[in-house]
Amino acid sequence: MCLELVGLSKAFNNGKQGGATPVLAAVNLRIERGQFVSIVGPSGCGKSTLLRIISGLESSFEGDVILEGRRITGTSQEIGLVFQQYALFPWRTMLENIEMGLEIMGVSKEERRALAREYIRAFGMSGAEDRYPSQLSGGMQQRVAIARTLIMKPRIILMDEPFGSLDSQTRNDMQEFLLQVWQERNETIVFVTHNVDEAVFLSDRIVVLSRRPASILKHFEINFARPRDRTAREVNEVRHEVINILREQRREQDTWITRPHVEAAGS
Ligand SMILES: Nc1ncnc2c1ncn2[C@@H]1O[C@H](COP(=O)(O)OP(=O)(O)OP(=O)(O)O)[C@@H](O)[C@H]1O
Ligand SMILES: [Mg+2]
Repeated sequence: MCLELVGLSKAFNNGKQGGATPVLAAVNLRIERGQFVSIVGPSGCGKSTLLRIISGLESSFEGDVILEGRRITGTSQEIGLVFQQYALFPWRTMLENIEMGLEIMGVSKEERRALAREYIRAFGMSGAEDRYPSQLSGGMQQRVAIARTLIMKPRIILMDEPFGSLDSQTRNDMQEFLLQVWQERNETIVFVTHNVDEAVFLSDRIVVLSRRPASILKHFEINFARPRDRTAREVNEVRHEVINILREQRREQDTWITRPHVEAAGS
């Protein structure tokens, strides 16, 4: 077993209004080594907060994050996070962005450049190493962001809607690219997405979160062989089931938002 989340709860303070908004409600999850797990849930339910806690970026929360038997606190090289907005440094070239983590670690220039060039080649970007992020397509920027994380050899890769801003064709290409990288390296990936089709296409398992405060509503084990046919009947069946659960959550949320007005009108 690779990653275990035990009773993760989190609330954000409401600033001047006082009080606190609960965002996560006792999330328990076990992820096996090498699994590709997607997390889906209603908008604003706490998905990014969950990834931020796992990656060590949130300091105040309840519960434990356990990586291969050890409780972890704070950020660590063993856990890599890829954001939706590639978060590349605009003043650094592709090569300089990819080598950055190694540079911070004190790896020699020669060594880190050689390694960064290997990733650039493996990721199909040779010839573009000296370009700046603004000179790269969205798909390429995302590949740079993934390469920059993978070069640090994390045990777990967390991805927060990494393909959310790509057009649909580039998104499909990037999904296939990510699967290929994952299969070659046998990584453990925790992948947050809004896109149920993407989750079914990619994952070994889909975890569906409730509306805020998020708790786990359901797990789907997906054993279909890869590469998957996006239009196959069994793929569609899972898709429908997940979409129905999410729709139900949205309906509950809408009822919850409108209820005070209904009560006020009735009283
Ligand atoms: N730093 C913060 N301070 C206060 N509230 C926050 C903070 N970060 C997030 N929140 C609130 O916590 C809730 C969950 O946010 P989070 O970003 O984790 O949701 P999400 O599921 O990733 O949303 P989305 O689907 O829009 O990406 C939201 O209501 C958000 O407004
Ligand atoms: Mg989010």
